[in-house]
This record gives sequence, structure tokens and C-alpha cells, in this order.
Amino acid sequence: MRQTLVAGNWKMNGSLESIKQLVAGITAGAADSGDTAIAVCPPFVYIPLVSELLAGSKIALGSQDNSDQEAGAFTGEISCSMLNDFGCRYAIVGHSERRALYGEDDDFTARKFAAARKAGLTPILCVGESLEEREQGITEDVVARQLDAVIKLEGIAAIADAVIAYEPVWAIGTGKTASPRQAQDVHAFIRGKLAGLDQGVADKVQILYGGSVKGSNAKELFSMQDIDGGLIGGASLAADDFLAICTAGN
Ligand code: PGA
Repeated sequence: MRQTLVAGNWKMNGSLESIKQLVAGITAGAADSGDTAIAVCPPFVYIPLVSELLAGSKIALGSQDNSDQEAGAFTGEISCSMLNDFGCRYAIVGHSERRALYGEDDDFTARKFAAARKAGLTPILCVGESLEEREQGITEDVVARQLDAVIKLEGIAAIADAVIAYEPVWAIGTGKTASPRQAQDVHAFIRGKLAGLDQGVADKVQILYGGSVKGSNAKELFSMQDIDGGLIGGASLAADDFLAICTAGN
């Protein structure tokens, strides 16, 4: 049995005050979320604060991005060892906003994945197709290509140390959620592809769904066979909304 994981990706949202309130709200309600594992991924500058506020709670900390480099003259970058210093456990890599808005390609994403894993962080590798790619019928090709870049660099065994997040780009922040069947079909494709390389890895790896998950649709999505939780954007910014999704994971 794979444990359900619900991870909140706060993106570039919040302020010192609002983040204190958000963490207080989430930690107060997290005990009711049963066996579901919970993580939050704040903007970099708030990671030290959130790390302190989460001490003693069941909620894990993650980053939204990380450098592919270990240290040195890389202005503006944050290394995985820095993230480790503040207790990060997860590292989102290859989010579609990084890919689309900042030109991060499959190979660069794979190097970030490798850096995170080398530092002992659990990468949350985001994959997913655009609306145009779905309409062209190439969803599986796109997702396979994104996975293959990582497998080529790191090997299939590395996927066992990671989490995969299937996030159809057309569903992110749009209010348009993939139907449970649409999502399950791609999750089953991903697991099947991994099983072709290593059945043990395929059975173990958590595959999250992301894209307009809300309290009202989380239960149905999470009840699908190959959906092991969610990566949550907008609905992770209000404690009650986020906790409703965490509770749906039970
Ligand atoms: P959303 O974002 O829940 O706001 O659609 C999901 C994500 O980008 O991870």
C-alpha cells in the first residue's frame, strides 16, 4: 500500500504575516488528516520561518525549485545543501511553470532531479502535457519523454527515491480539473511504463495528480487506483481548503 501524500505548492504567494497564519491553521488541523502525509513548499525566503513553525508537527517541508549545481558562482540560485540546512525533505523539480516560463528543458530538469537526490532530498518530478499536446493525442509521448530524461541520467532505480506529479498544464490554475478517469489513464500509463523497466519501482513510487484539485474533487481523484495524492497550488493557500484535501486522502 502506498501512502497518500498531499503537497502544497505555494508558488510566489504570501507575506510574512499571511504565511504565519497559514501554517498555524494547517498545523492545528493536520492531526485530523489520519495517515495522509502532508508537505508544504513555501517560497525560498520563508523556508527558515516555516521550518521553525513546523517543528514537532507531522508536516514536511519542501522547496519549489533547486539549483542543479552544488555551490559556487551561480547568482540567484539555491543549492540542495542549503535546503537541507533548513530541514527540507522534498524538492519540486520540473514544474510546468519552470518549464514554460523559464525555459527549463527535460535535461536541465533531470540535472536538478539528480542534484536533489544526491543531497538526500526526495524530488517531486512534475510531468504533464499542454492542451495543444493533448489535442494532438501525444500526451503519453510527452510524459514518456519527460520521464525518460531523468531515467537516462539517473537510472530507473532513482525513481524509487522520488515522487512523480502528473500535472496536465491545461488544468493548472484554470479551475479545469482532469476527470478522475482522464487522470487515472495517464497515471496508469506512467506506472505501466515504469513497470516495464522495474516492477518494484513501479509498485513503490507515489504518483500525485495536480491541477485544480479542491476539497470537492479530491476524494474522487484520490480513490483512483494509481493516484496516490495531490500536488496542490491555489487550494493550498487557505488552511481550510488545504485541510479538506488532506482529509480526503484518508
Ligand atoms: P493548482 O496548481 O492547484 O492551482 O491548479 C497545481 C500546481 O501547479 O502544482
